[in-house]
Amino acid sequence: MKLRSSRLSLLLVGMALALSACASDAPQDFTKPEGPIAKQVDRLFDPVFAVAVVVFVLVEGLVLYVAMRFRERPGHDDAPTQTHGNTRLEITWTIIPALLLAVIGVFTVVTILDINKVDATGEALEVDVYGHQWWWEYRYPGEGVITANELHIPTGRRVELKLQSKDVIHSFWPPKLAGKVDVVPGHVNHMAIEATEPGTYYGQCAEFCGLSHSRMRLRVVAHSPAEFATWLAGQKQQPAKPSTSDEGAALFQSKGCAGCHTVAGFTAGEIGPNLTHLYSRKTFAGAIFDLNEQNLRTWLRDPQGRKPGSLMKLPVKLNEEEITKLIAYLETLK
Ligand code: CUA
Repeated sequence: MKLRSSRLSLLLVGMALALSACASDAPQDFTKPEGPIAKQVDRLFDPVFAVAVVVFVLVEGLVLYVAMRFRERPGHDDAPTQTHGNTRLEITWTIIPALLLAVIGVFTVVTILDINKVDATGEALEVDVYGHQWWWEYRYPGEGVITANELHIPTGRRVELKLQSKDVIHSFWPPKLAGKVDVVPGHVNHMAIEATEPGTYYGQCAEFCGLSHSRMRLRVVAHSPAEFATWLAGQKQQPAKPSTSDEGAALFQSKGCAGCHTVAGFTAGEIGPNLTHLYSRKTFAGAIFDLNEQNLRTWLRDPQGRKPGSLMKLPVKLNEEEITKLIAYLETLK
């Protein structure tokens, strides 16, 4: 009896833990879609899940029933009747799943085709998405705008992403706005997303891509169309070229930052994120850190310590004074 109650409490704790995973504020809860494309996927998921639950309960129930009903009992040591095969049962349990899968398959294919149909209205916004170890780059073709980690989009408008990789296979996954699509080197994949309401939608890379895969996050920031236009106009502006007396800007050149990072009109590195409007973002380094002075400081002290495997390698360690000056310069990149 004692054993039973301890097992029961273990089970209850387990269930409580499982349920706590369903907290309502989970920012990547794909069961609460926030746009028409994600809703289409969800409409497919809901009935399939319901059917799966019915099948699970039925099959597990039968397994339990059989295990109890035909369990070994004292005084019944003789071997049970031996049976081999039951054609009618076997045909039944082959046909039922086959039919279920066929029906699910039809709806799945229809949904996939519908989600991926080429936008005929010409109203869709196109964005080129590049996966890097371990951050995302977004380019707005025809606009000359390049940004990182935070993808800005207008609400109520279909956004077509052209997914490409600069190194290994990644996967772009903003769960509340769409499903996930692999980002494969040497190949262009397509994905459409759309947000109904303004807001920030969380996502992450969903394909193991190396040491800091778990630190390759992303955000989609949806604005009303007017605010999006304002954001885009801001991103197009070129920051003033830093004066020759700006010590932080001089360090940005001399300490190697310029070799990897572009600041429009000043440096032209292509390896790391474009920093032209760094301070228009809320996060940095694969959207894992909030963008603020303290986080930038610990980052510049030891990027690899903060993000294992990070390709941001400082040729020479920076001292605190240099870090202070560099941050002061970065803060001008609004
Ligand atoms: Cu990129 Cu995982």
